[in-house]
Amino acid sequence: MYRDLREFIDKLDEIGELKRVDGVNWKFELQCVAELFKERAGPALLFDHIQGYLPGYRVLANVVLSARRTALALGMDPDTAPMEVIKRWRKVLKDFRPVPPEYVTTAPVFENQATGESVDLLKFPAPWFYPEDGGRYLGTGDIVIMRDPEEGWVNIGVYRIQMHDHKTTGIMMNPGQQGTLIMRRYHEQGKNCPVAVSLGYTADLLYPAQQSLPWGVSEYDLAGFARGAPIDVVEAPLTGLPVPATSEIVLEGEIPPRSVEGRPEGPFAESWGYSMDRARECEVIKVQAVYHRDDPILWAYKDSKPPVTPSVRLPVRAANAWNEMEAAGVPNIKGVYGFIFNDCRLGVVSIKNSYPGHPMQTGMALQASHQGNNSIITIVVDDDVDITNLEEVMWAVASRCDPTTQVLTFRGRTSTIDPRVTPEQRARRDITRGHIIIDACKPLDFKDFPPIYRFSDEMKQEMIRKYHLLKV
Ligand SMILES: Cc1cc2nc3c(=O)[nH]c(=O)nc-3n(C[C@H](O)[C@H](O)[C@H](O)COP(=O)(O)O)c2cc1C
Repeated sequence: MYRDLREFIDKLDEIGELKRVDGVNWKFELQCVAELFKERAGPALLFDHIQGYLPGYRVLANVVLSARRTALALGMDPDTAPMEVIKRWRKVLKDFRPVPPEYVTTAPVFENQATGESVDLLKFPAPWFYPEDGGRYLGTGDIVIMRDPEEGWVNIGVYRIQMHDHKTTGIMMNPGQQGTLIMRRYHEQGKNCPVAVSLGYTADLLYPAQQSLPWGVSEYDLAGFARGAPIDVVEAPLTGLPVPATSEIVLEGEIPPRSVEGRPEGPFAESWGYSMDRARECEVIKVQAVYHRDDPILWAYKDSKPPVTPSVRLPVRAANAWNEMEAAGVPNIKGVYGFIFNDCRLGVVSIKNSYPGHPMQTGMALQASHQGNNSIITIVVDDDVDITNLEEVMWAVASRCDPTTQVLTFRGRTSTIDPRVTPEQRARRDITRGHIIIDACKPLDFKDFPPIYRFSDEMKQEMIRKYHLLKV
């Protein structure tokens, strides 16, 4: 394991998953280079000597654009097979017992401190990712920490942070997020909401922070459970909020109600690969203190349109969806996977097809699950299909599905950043769109479905040995 982001980066370097890039401009060039490497399924990137910035003020990008790096970020061996990663993460979620964070008294993040008038957010090389964006973003792979004012528990979530000026950022939290609900509680009490943001932290916090856990359950406790040891936190001096002790950069401040101070946020090149071309009035963080390590590292996290080799993306949320489907009573699920971003917009489930209606029931269960209902196209296949391989999935669709009888279309829920939601729909706050479930299983009553021809792996191994064909 690694103790902090720096050890994680060393680990990436050790396994050939890191490239250092010097000298780019934070405005567009940084992301252009990141996109270039993404399209070639390249390594994670550590940008240094960024134009106009002190050497050592670095930006880390493209971290979870590979299955190996994602496995490592989840605290697993990078060579764990993708479906095995999903299975192990699903077990972590299933077995989860809270392991609360441990308070430490000192932390390297306090090596540099600024409060009040000396706060200057512009000292960090926050990228301006795309020309279509409304500005620079300090936080994309950040975590935001808040304490519920009534019940005292601590929530963390990944919410984007736009840089407005030296002391002010935007914060974009969607309506149902727990962060939003906590913030509102402060506002209802007539108070500003205290907040801390970590802009670079130990990598095994990234996926726990993205989980929507039940109200009152802290993502820190899940991260501790997944790690098998508590997360070290330190009390932030102004707010008293627990921030990861290994943070690279921490901001502390307050969120006033939007009616007191709000600013337009965005547009932002969204994860679907489209720029939604609109700025919306959003809350701001009035930053009162900044702490950072010497030579701090800012974690940038940007999703965008394909191409990325589909099989290199690891859809971690499939683990949640699998648990939910199982809890709904769907039997004989052999795998859950997804393509097109981490949210599985194209969800795939493999089953041991056991009775008439089983594939459709499975597809509907994915659609009904909290973590799977973002799937616009859901495909259910037999368990002889490798669902981590999109080409193989499409082969099953083409060869086993009769669309006149094995397809269901309906109107389902989508997200606010879905480009297929029309402006008219948006105006009436309607975020539904057509969904499809494709049953690509061999029909159970089709008795003599042609068999697949393919030599066994054992025989291939024998050939390799016998004729000295390959080193394996
Ligand atoms: C890279 C990344 C960026 C995200 N950005 C946002 C965001 O700007 N606003 C938001 O509401 N959710 C965003 N999310 C989703 C939330 O992090 C996720 O829903 C999380 O569960 C929220 O935490 P909560 O359940 O404690 O509210 C993002 C997720 C990722 C992985």
